[in-house]
Amino acid sequence: MNLIGLSGSLRAASTNTALLRALQVETPRGCTLALYDGLGALPIFNPDDEGEHTPLEAVRLNEAVSRADGVVISCPEYAYGIPGGLKNALDWLVSGPAAVGKPVMLVHASHRSQISRDALREVLRTMSFEVFPGPELEVPLLGKKPDEVAEILRDAACRQRLRTTLADFVRFIDEQ
Ligand SMILES: Cc1cc2nc3c(=O)[nH]c(=O)nc-3n(C[C@H](O)[C@H](O)[C@H](O)COP(=O)(O)O)c2cc1C
Repeated sequence: MNLIGLSGSLRAASTNTALLRALQVETPRGCTLALYDGLGALPIFNPDDEGEHTPLEAVRLNEAVSRADGVVISCPEYAYGIPGGLKNALDWLVSGPAAVGKPVMLVHASHRSQISRDALREVLRTMSFEVFPGPELEVPLLGKKPDEVAEILRDAACRQRLRTTLADFVRFIDEQ
């Protein structure tokens, strides 16, 4: 089983990306989690550029999501909303088949961000993703320095929570 992770933050020291990287090493046997790295390279979505004019990076994103058995998203909240970079990536997936019926799970690197979490879930449902209904993993990394983030994510109890969350998501995918 192959999963793809999307981080909604482009920051080099992003806590959301760090959470996804920690999940990468806790996947169940036979399951991989690759991180999509093209968010910052995607042009601003324009419906006129779809079809034969679709930019290469948008094609790459569509193919990566199509190939994946499931998607894991970790995303910050900006001004009570979904960061433009992630929303832009999702917009490039709206008209194609990649998102339809695709299992997706949200994980959170902040104990806040309730407004953008709700908005993101609504967007994903509207796009016909199958949103994982189980409890969402939340690791409070907001405001932590990189070495503190690394220490929290190294903790054995935290690692166990990451493993359990991924195992639950993989079971959900199997049931689809
Ligand atoms: C422009 C901007 C706007 C933000 N707005 C909010 C907000 O509305 N609500 C919130 O909880 N955090 C807000 N934050 C804090 C980020 O969500 C927080 O820093 C997050 O952990 C960053 O994720 P990252 O470490 O992956 O980059 C904002 C941060 C930035 C840079």
